[in-house]
Amino acid sequence: MDRRALLSVTAATMGLAALDCIAPMRLRADSPRTLKSLAAACGIKTGVACSKTSLEQSPAAFVDFVTGNFTLLTPEGELKWSALRPTQHEYDFAKSDWLLDFTSQHGMALRGHNLCWNTGNPPWLEAVLTQSNAEKILTDHIATVTGRYAGKLDSWDVVNEPIAIWFNKPGGYYDGPWLRTLGPEYIDIAFHAAAAADPHCLRVINVHHVEQGRDAETRNACLKMLESLLKRNVPVQALGIESHLDCDLTIDQGELDKFIASVQKMGLQILITELDINDSKVNGSDQHRDQVVADYYRRYLDVVLPVANIDRLIFWAPMDRSWMDYMCNAPRWQRSDGKCNHRPGLIDSSLQIKQSYQAVAAAIEQHGRHRLQA
Ligand code: G3I
Repeated sequence: MDRRALLSVTAATMGLAALDCIAPMRLRADSPRTLKSLAAACGIKTGVACSKTSLEQSPAAFVDFVTGNFTLLTPEGELKWSALRPTQHEYDFAKSDWLLDFTSQHGMALRGHNLCWNTGNPPWLEAVLTQSNAEKILTDHIATVTGRYAGKLDSWDVVNEPIAIWFNKPGGYYDGPWLRTLGPEYIDIAFHAAAAADPHCLRVINVHHVEQGRDAETRNACLKMLESLLKRNVPVQALGIESHLDCDLTIDQGELDKFIASVQKMGLQILITELDINDSKVNGSDQHRDQVVADYYRRYLDVVLPVANIDRLIFWAPMDRSWMDYMCNAPRWQRSDGKCNHRPGLIDSSLQIKQSYQAVAAAIEQHGRHRLQA
């Protein structure tokens, strides 16, 4: 890594003083100003999604960036069925154990992501799953995985993305093997199994497509689902709002506030679990794209932080080289210039701090100031 890159990452992890020349933020050389320190001042833990591969194969400065700015780590794939279950009768915990060691060595906590999802499953699952064996296969998995990590994780995304209205299923449920074999009750089964195996780990239902202007129908479906789960005493404790945002779409502050208030009224905690920003519809220079993305991070956090009372804020794309670059064949991530690069990162692919990092830091800092005044 060249000296400039090293300086930038060091600035991020050791305090932002070295960034003074890049952007006019109020900086104090004597106090470390990392995302995690700014967030801690307002009672929030910052987190980041990483894979074992990204931590092992990136320069050491990337690891410094991760450990310097975040206290939570979500495995990008290592705790999913596709990683843990090579065959029906085998579990492979090598990678998730490695991540647990990594987090404990660095004073971080590992989030569990996820125990049950209607996609991202190993091919054998759909081949063997029937209405009569599905509940046992699901509860065995949850008992084994949750049991192994009982008392060691920050929280579990017990059910991931239960609502996806585009499947046109009653209730707006995400279609897939669990819904097809068990109906919406798969959610109840998963939460009861998780609560039995690790009663003290925060149990999250993780939803997507509820954040932006176009998402009214999903928000409604989501609220109905939550109401009915709670009515049946399903032990859901928190709602994870993923927050994969498209910066060509609007954020409807009024509607989002209403949604958040309805969830809070049900007694559920809220987490931001996968924040990142897709700039595939933004053209222009990298500098311009980065500014649009940074402004969007700022706008979203300015909307959400004052109302959602979150204590966990997790980012899904720490750096520009991200999962989105594998999605270029899907219209949502396609670019009109034909390039397949997205710029959602807080640092770029040469580990340079970006405007996004500064926008996030400023939003958190402002939130902290407001909380102090309140
Ligand atoms: O690494 C290989 C690469 O070598 C190969 O060339 C390429 C070909 O497709 O695949 C690459 O692996 C992909 C991997 O992402 C890279 O990060 C896998 O195919 C792909 O399945 C995997 O996708 C993951 C996806 O979940 C499905 O599990 C993404 O990493 C991960 O970021 C994404 O995360 C999800 C959350 O779990 C739930 N919410 C949405 C979020 C984003 O889609």
